[in-house]
Amino acid sequence: MEAKQVTERGNWGSKIAFILAAAGSAVGLGNIWRFPMAVGQNGGAVFVLVYILAVMLIGFTVMLSELTIGRHSQKNPVGAIERIKPRSPWKLIGYLGILTGICILSYYSVVAGWTLGYLIKTATGSFKGQLSGHLTDKIFTDFSANPWLVIIFLLIIIGVTTYIISRGVKSGIERWTKILMPMLFILIIFLAVRALTLPGAEKGISFYLKPDFSKLSGKVILFALGQAFFSLSLGMGTMITYGSYISKSDNLVSSAGWVCFSDTLIALLAGIIIFPTLFAIPGLTPAEGPGLVFKVFPLVFAKIPGGTIFGILFFSLLLVAAITSTISLLEVPVAYFVDERGWSRTKAAGLMGLLAFLLGVPSALSSGAVKFLTKIDFSGWMDFIFGNISLAFGALLICLFVGYIWGVKRAIGEISSGNTRFKLRPLWVFSVKFLSPIAIIIILFFIRTIAK
Ligand code: PHE
Repeated sequence: MEAKQVTERGNWGSKIAFILAAAGSAVGLGNIWRFPMAVGQNGGAVFVLVYILAVMLIGFTVMLSELTIGRHSQKNPVGAIERIKPRSPWKLIGYLGILTGICILSYYSVVAGWTLGYLIKTATGSFKGQLSGHLTDKIFTDFSANPWLVIIFLLIIIGVTTYIISRGVKSGIERWTKILMPMLFILIIFLAVRALTLPGAEKGISFYLKPDFSKLSGKVILFALGQAFFSLSLGMGTMITYGSYISKSDNLVSSAGWVCFSDTLIALLAGIIIFPTLFAIPGLTPAEGPGLVFKVFPLVFAKIPGGTIFGILFFSLLLVAAITSTISLLEVPVAYFVDERGWSRTKAAGLMGLLAFLLGVPSALSSGAVKFLTKIDFSGWMDFIFGNISLAFGALLICLFVGYIWGVKRAIGEISSGNTRFKLRPLWVFSVKFLSPIAIIIILFFIRTIAK
């Protein structure tokens, strides 16, 4: 029965296919759009340092916990918790994940839509000739304030995501990631080298890599932790869902390690492109907010012979990276309605996609198109509530669930299948039971300092 069910749900073709798909979920706008934005708004290098610590000490722990729950139960987040601890309130983890997934998908798709817009802009020559920060600033402001454009691009992104998800997991996800993710990685390294060799790059490097500890605050830590969860796709059951497709012979520990490592590397490299360029070419400041990446990347392309081609390549690959993430966001609610409610994939994907689109409209209109939404920063709040707080809270519940309800012993039993030695065992146990939950609880207290 078990085996039959597994094959019906689909399995990853191989371990490497899983790592690529999970990395496909993890790597996306979170690394290239959100990470530099957060660094710029939160004091530079000190944020980077806290972020790296958060990934190593907490992110990895939660990643391994989610994958373990997923593979053990072979289910979506709600069904997974139900199978491990039937009829318990812990199912909240799953429901919260479904809600969070749809809400993140809504504004994330807006930014993915901007990426599509920028791909078209680059291809049609908007960034030719001498560029300054003032000019790219104006181009972005005009673009993001155009209501019809942003909504049409949003619709395209959600439409494509819905289509891929409705066709099922294997054909949908695996195919995209195998070639394109490594390509994105190579292109980013190339661009990083170019940015580092711009005259005047030093100031940017020192902003990015030389910590100024006077800038350390509760807010910085809260955002760094939130960013770690966001970037690694943790805290809402994505990795439970993806883990449910991993085979029993795979090593969960090294898979989790690879995903954390590659995701962090790409985010760090994105910063190496953004900050040197930003400081080398006048007109922009680090705290530009959501437009930062869209204002800075065209400046790098302008400094490379054949820059238009690189620009097209970059925005295309970023778009693919974004879509491998949007499909993982939509997969969580869809897996729930298919597994638990008996809906067809097409119906589940269609309805959830529609919901995300409707929720995405006010976010799309909050970057200049509608005054009121812009003033209250609708998409900023969506991102703060769902992209930071809700993920952190979800991650806390997952640690408590694995540490105390399911129990580390049973979790370790699952991890041992595919990894009999599990050398990190004592560290993981300490982190999942004490370090991570306590750190998250303390950090969540800083919410008050931000709401002010
Ligand atoms: N990790 C993705 C990114 O960095 C976003 C994401 C968050 C995807 C949460 C799934 C779940 O772009």
